Amino acid sequence: MSGDAAIRVAGLEKSFSDLHVLRGVDFEVDRGRIFALLGSNGAGKTTVVRILATLLKADAGTAVVHGFDVAAQAQDVRESISLTGQFAAVDEILSGRENLVLVARLRHLKNPGAIADDLLARFGLVEAGGRRAGTYSGGMRRRLDIAMSLIGDPPVIFLDEPTTGLDPQARIEVWKAVKELAGRGTTVLLTTQYLDEAEHLADRIAILHEGTIIANGTLAELKELLPPVEVEYVEKQPSLEDVFLAIVGDGTDK
Ligand SMILES: Nc1ncnc2c1ncn2[C@@H]1O[C@H](COP(=O)(O)OP(=O)(O)O)[C@@H](O)[C@H]1O
Ligand SMILES: [Mg+2]
Repeated sequence: MSGDAAIRVAGLEKSFSDLHVLRGVDFEVDRGRIFALLGSNGAGKTTVVRILATLLKADAGTAVVHGFDVAAQAQDVRESISLTGQFAAVDEILSGRENLVLVARLRHLKNPGAIADDLLARFGLVEAGGRRAGTYSGGMRRRLDIAMSLIGDPPVIFLDEPTTGLDPQARIEVWKAVKELAGRGTTVLLTTQYLDEAEHLADRIAILHEGTIIANGTLAELKELLPPVEVEYVEKQPSLEDVFLAIVGDGTDK
């Protein structure tokens, strides 16, 4: 719809033999926004991200990233994105700074040292920068991983479950780093199983369930999908979890 969408997905389908994972997925992400694809384990979030990152071919449908078709213009898409997965690409033997310099060199950028120092500052890693990454906490590693994915300033970033496996303190550190990205005009598509993560970070949230997007909107819009609350003595704000359960059911017989 909007001509300015950074990501546009329409009718996306994907099966793995007889497992029909994506059954017609549609959504758009505006430039400079954080969009959360929320779904349970196995919902197909990584499958969507891998198709958008040109690592996997869809069976049907179209996907356009930064104006390029993922099937017909895969190389242009690759030059416009970075993908940070659950399993960090950090080299443990190198220091944080050396990891950043290495990536900047691999991308043939000028002044790799200056690029590294800027990113260390942005992600709160100045003091740790000279230390081996193998000594970093989970949150520091994930922040370093996100910083590495930013080298070369890709306009679109995919973060596939950026905080899975992190403790609560580290999650908050990573959230800050993600917010920093969108503050600079980068478009972020993140996947998560955590309702509170989507709630904290995202401008828009889409819920992927049984192969399609069953809800898509701002947090306020999603909360409106809830049935009206009956008389309560204390006003209670619904959590995204309440919204999720109201839409998909809680798995119990009603
Ligand atoms: N290469 C593959 N071959 C077969 N099955 C796969 C493959 N990749 C994913 N799947 C299956 O597709 C479903 C969705 O996987 P995935 O996209 O990784 O879900 P999520 O990231 O939401 O947890 C799961 O049932 C998974 O086992
Ligand atoms: Mg996944």
